[in-house]
Amino acid sequence: MTLKNYKNRQWLLSSRPKGMVSQKNFDWLESEVQTPKEGEFLVKNLYLSFDPAQRGWMEDKKSYVPPVGLGEVMRASSIAQVIESKNPDFKEGDIIQGIFGWQDFAISDGKGIMNAAHVPADIPITAPLSVFGITGLTAYFGLLDIGKPNAGDTVLVSGAAGATGSIAGQIAKIKGCKVIGTAGGAKKCRWLTEKANFDVAIDYKTADLGSTLQELCPEGINVIFDNVGGEFLNTSLLRIAQNARIVICGAISGYNEEVQPPGPSNYISLIIQRAKMEGFIVLDYANQFKDAVEELSTWVKEGKIVYQEDIAEGLENAPETLLRLYSGKNIGKQLLKVSDPD
Ligand SMILES: NC(=O)c1ccc[n+]([C@@H]2O[C@H](COP(=O)([O-])OP(=O)(O)OC[C@H]3O[C@@H](n4cnc5c(N)ncnc54)[C@H](OP(=O)(O)O)[C@@H]3O)[C@@H](O)[C@H]2O)c1
Repeated sequence: MTLKNYKNRQWLLSSRPKGMVSQKNFDWLESEVQTPKEGEFLVKNLYLSFDPAQRGWMEDKKSYVPPVGLGEVMRASSIAQVIESKNPDFKEGDIIQGIFGWQDFAISDGKGIMNAAHVPADIPITAPLSVFGITGLTAYFGLLDIGKPNAGDTVLVSGAAGATGSIAGQIAKIKGCKVIGTAGGAKKCRWLTEKANFDVAIDYKTADLGSTLQELCPEGINVIFDNVGGEFLNTSLLRIAQNARIVICGAISGYNEEVQPPGPSNYISLIIQRAKMEGFIVLDYANQFKDAVEELSTWVKEGKIVYQEDIAEGLENAPETLLRLYSGKNIGKQLLKVSDPD
């Protein structure tokens, strides 16, 4: 690839969102493509990953990763191809994954937050951002290590048609549980029961969650895998069984709220039912990722796990693509194609 005629198009964080994130929080910049120094390599982005947590990274708050600085390229994981290299571990043409951000080209030395890893040749190029990526792994560790499902348990998953929720529910099915998912809209609910092996799917936009759960779970819910928080969590807490495990994976319903709603008033159920509510960050399991990907890939090969990817196109559409997550427009893992490999 000759870079002479190329510019590096970038989306920079220009302001911190108040309430719903918008395109106004980003600036579009076109700059020269940099040349790698000794030990570095240059990549071009092929696919970007979109994650609800990106809204949190835009805030100037203490979190599990530092915030994106104002004027910096918006942080995002991606699949990329090495274009030029002065690093013996990364050769021209290699397909890798890393945190290369909302831009066409990035320079990396393969370490730190720009940590990079090779993508195995025998899997679909986007799978390390979806079923074998952070969302698949979050489902795996959140459900198995925190939720600890037993055969016969009733497991309730919110955000069930999403990248994380859909995998969590299917793992619960593999473990012999009865699985109920909540999702927005009939199309997502149909996919859950017809393709993803869920026993029941509740369209939370039209159903009354409390009475539906009472009907569906007369013995109570043993595991809640919660991606949504807010009203979902509060209502479902009223239906937990004794010794239930509530996995706090995410709370997307509050990510764009200027003022966080008060905590769940029904938390007293935890006392009555001797239940446990626990949060986690998937990155803490990094030393077990390899084994988890192996098990996930066996399940995918056996047809026990299906997954969906929703692929937008064009770097210019990155802010709009991020917004899809918060309006539920994404069907499965939200990605954006930036370019084709050479
Ligand atoms: N703990 C960790 O380490 C970790 C790691 C990765 C992800 N997560 C969390 O996992 C959750 C899912 O992430 P994902 O990447 O898999 O995204 P996703 O579920 O593929 O997409 C987000 C979905 O959230 C739902 N949603 C959006 N706004 C909502 C609202 N106000 N109320 C209810 N549902 C809403 C929408 O589905 P509907 O159309 O069904 O509403 C949307 O499609 C997020 O909370 C994320 O922060 C946690």
